[in-house]
Amino acid sequence: MCGIVAYMGSRQAAPLLLNGLRRLEYRGYDSAGMAVLNGGIDIRKDRGRIDDVNREHDFSSLKGTLGIAHTRWATHGEPSMKNAHPHTGCNGDIALVHNGIIENYKTLRELLESEGHVFSTDTDTEVLTHLIEKFYKGDFLGSVRKALMQIRGTYGIAVIHKGCNEVVVARNGSPLVIGVKRGEAFAASDASAILEHTKKMIYLDDGEVATLKPGGVVTVRNLFDKILEKNIEEIGWNLDQIEKGGFRHFMLKEIFEQPESIRNVMRGRLGKGIKLSINGELGDRKRVIIVACGSSWHSALIGRYLIESLSGVPAEVDYASEFRYREPLVGKDDLVIAISQSGETADTLAALKEAKRRGAKTLGVVNVVGSTIAREADMGVYIHAGPEIGVASTKAYTNQIIALLLIALDLAQKHGKKINQRLLSDMRKLPATLEHVLKEDKKIKAIADRVAEHGNFLYLGRGINYPTALEGALKLKEISYIHAEGYPAAEMKHGPIALIDENMPVVFIANKGKGYDKIVSNMEEVKARRGKIIAIATEGDNSIKSLSDWVIRVPRTADELSPVVNIIPLQLLAYYIADIKGLDVDKPRNLAKSVTVE
Ligand code: M6R
Repeated sequence: MCGIVAYMGSRQAAPLLLNGLRRLEYRGYDSAGMAVLNGGIDIRKDRGRIDDVNREHDFSSLKGTLGIAHTRWATHGEPSMKNAHPHTGCNGDIALVHNGIIENYKTLRELLESEGHVFSTDTDTEVLTHLIEKFYKGDFLGSVRKALMQIRGTYGIAVIHKGCNEVVVARNGSPLVIGVKRGEAFAASDASAILEHTKKMIYLDDGEVATLKPGGVVTVRNLFDKILEKNIEEIGWNLDQIEKGGFRHFMLKEIFEQPESIRNVMRGRLGKGIKLSINGELGDRKRVIIVACGSSWHSALIGRYLIESLSGVPAEVDYASEFRYREPLVGKDDLVIAISQSGETADTLAALKEAKRRGAKTLGVVNVVGSTIAREADMGVYIHAGPEIGVASTKAYTNQIIALLLIALDLAQKHGKKINQRLLSDMRKLPATLEHVLKEDKKIKAIADRVAEHGNFLYLGRGINYPTALEGALKLKEISYIHAEGYPAAEMKHGPIALIDENMPVVFIANKGKGYDKIVSNMEEVKARRGKIIAIATEGDNSIKSLSDWVIRVPRTADELSPVVNIIPLQLLAYYIADIKGLDVDKPRNLAKSVTVE
């Protein structure tokens, strides 16, 4: 949520900051703003998307070689010009951008107001600028440290003072990375914002504060002013991975990248058996508990199925947001797996910490290298999907499933189970299988044309493809704003069947394999009530045609891999419906890519 970018160097800051903001816009996009040091501090900000704000306020008219910028996803205070960041104090000497939530802002605001500070926004963030102003006695960094010590909550911040030629950045619970380069320094809430300038990154940890000074001098300290030695890490992502590369939207590009991203998650890990080079053993844990949110929670449901059926280890899944507050009975016999594309989701991170506190061994299944969950977990399996920019998760979701399959197989090996070589062979063929499925693209677009006007959809699947139904429905509602529900197919008769009529498209995941006959019976029940059926069916299954209004065919593969194969047409269906409706597919309303607040 919210994107921050900062620059200190010899080039004009505004164009660099604007580019960085555009790359961060997927993190939040209801307002944008920029502040550049130029004798005083010049600020431009407003409600709206970055390019709209730029058209109106011309960021490039800000001259100076040091600046900070922000794209916002509102938490406290509606999107408006006054609530857009950067924020200032009473005298305009300070400008600050913030990502996160200051929980004790009300108390602090009352205190500061009683001391004469005048607030001009509805945000929680503004207390920080006034606190810094209050503590400032000529030592800018010192005043920022003192202010941060008063704060309860989460923050990634970048702040400048009109009398100091430096940017101060800090983090607690919201990501912040510093990019280093000869003569220049950058900071951002996400490496993709500064990747075009440098691949050398310093990841700040919670409770750390850094100064970016002329000549690219970066110094990291803790809040008590102790200088810390930090590693400079080289990020493996490339610029073309964060650009659209000729596709209309990032989401479409990312759907089409799946054959390659699936190759990447398996690379070096799939031989005759499974080689997972994780730091530390999965160990002899008696139970696995998987915690996650959103699409990652759907992949967790598939992971449970895979772990139990392949390794025989009992597995449970919980919403991270529920797990963290329900006094979970978790301890040293448990392996807790936290799944997160971003590695920054607040609820998932809190659940992971809670599991650690209770003595469980923790494993992160994460995409973003160096992210907080990746660093916090005892062990990790990166999913190597590459940067995922579209807010709706696609390639990260399928890579999570394969990572969980690898973990399940690894556990199976450790428990002396024989590995099914046919499954491994289908895994090797999976990228080619997905390339084949993607060729159905035009047909799926044509189906989307026919069904886009409907206001409700039902998605039904069984067993390992019940989560596919949930994920298909989530994709549709996220980006097309059409109400969609996913259910285990057998549950339909316990309620949702009341909704079925000729205006209700029902998407069935109906591959040949386990549960096929039962799915066909459910299709009959929908047909009898004149529901419109879209079936995802196995190539060569001709009998399903008579029951369906539209059939999307996918190649037969191992049951364990079918969720990866089946979700591709559902991602495309959601994408095309949203596009037909003229919606902003990559930046759906109210959402943000990385949910770093509770
Ligand atoms: O980064 P994470 O995987 O932890 O994110 C979890 C959810 O916020 C995320 O999957 C969300 O549901 C996506 N918008 C799904 O498309």
